[in-house]
Amino acid sequence: NMIKVAVVGGEGIGPEVTAQSRRILGWFATRRGVPMALREAQYGLIPYLATGKVLPEDTANAMDEADAILWGATGGPETKEVPAEARKAGGLLSLRQKYDLYANLRPIRANPALSESSPLKARILKDVDFVIIRELTSGIYFGEPRGIEKLPDGQRRGFNTEQYTTSQVRRVARSAFELARTRRGKVCSVDKANVLETSVLWREEVTALRAEEFRDVELSHMYVDNAAMQIVRDPAQFDVMVTGNIFGDILSDCAAMASGSLGMLPSASLGPVDRYGRRKALYEPVHGSAPDIAGRGIANPLGSIQSVIMMLRMTLNRPEDADLLEKAVDLALANGARTADIAEAGMRKLSTKEMGDAVLAA
Ligand code: NAI
Ligand code: MG
Repeated sequence: NMIKVAVVGGEGIGPEVTAQSRRILGWFATRRGVPMALREAQYGLIPYLATGKVLPEDTANAMDEADAILWGATGGPETKEVPAEARKAGGLLSLRQKYDLYANLRPIRANPALSESSPLKARILKDVDFVIIRELTSGIYFGEPRGIEKLPDGQRRGFNTEQYTTSQVRRVARSAFELARTRRGKVCSVDKANVLETSVLWREEVTALRAEEFRDVELSHMYVDNAAMQIVRDPAQFDVMVTGNIFGDILSDCAAMASGSLGMLPSASLGPVDRYGRRKALYEPVHGSAPDIAGRGIANPLGSIQSVIMMLRMTLNRPEDADLLEKAVDLALANGARTADIAEAGMRKLSTKEMGDAVLAA
């Protein structure tokens, strides 16, 4: 049975880095027999100029039908050439909502070759290998009521609403427990239950779900302020961390630095499990369209390539192939392959395509 993969490079460096991860996917299809039907589609300014839509029908269909979407990036100065309403109609935020991609996974892994390049990093980052799961479709970013109002005394008051329901907490917690089962069997749930009602509910529901279905997984709880400190002090203690939307936003950027460069970081956003046990997934590098370096062929494709590792593991069900690609990335780096963003003084700087070559060779 063919697994459907839509490849959407998008804008800025998106198409440049995605071209390399597309080559890697092709390699796994032909050389390792991974059964997938690849469909490439355009997104952004180019289709807008041709069709009047940033998300043309063909692309929307490809994404609707896909089991997995490999996404590049969107945004940048060219955005200004597209009217706001045309942008919004097919924006990434609305796509995430359309597919209900509620669990955002960001693996944080200190690459051995890079962590040895600095004494400080080698000491702190050795053995760092954890995944942050951030709830992506609820919490204070979406809660109602929200707004800015005028007060009788002439001041203004801005307000947002933090909210979580039982099912919203449970489904993302379930993703965390299931992922932990495939890793080191530990979940750390992060909240602020000493001051927030939503966090009290969060903690109760996560605890109850574990008692009901995941007694084999070790569960701990941590306040978010302490979690921020622990990520800096001793990140190797974590296996899977699960948290709400705003805490996850901040903690994942903080943790990101453990792996060296924004250009290296992969992510996956997962939707609900359907009645056939499948779940829609969007894989993308954490970085954006990087307009400052777009068009020069120097972007680091490893964020996108490492997103393919996640796709192999989670959608394509090929853990050995995921391990193989992970080793290839490590080996390429150990052999000294560096794009400009991770090169140290005196090292040759590879182009985007040359980094793709290095991973394929490895
Ligand atoms: P950015 O991630 O595009 O760039 C931040 C900095 O990191 C830049 O200096 C860039 O050159 C560098 N960088 C990023 N990726 C790199 C790579 N692969 N290799 C080497 N260097 C890399 O973030 P920024 O500048 O805040 O946003 C630019 C545009 O991207 C905005 O329009 C933003 O809305 C959009 N964006 C889109 C995302 C998506 O499509 N999921 C995610 C984040 C931002
Ligand atoms: Mg952020």
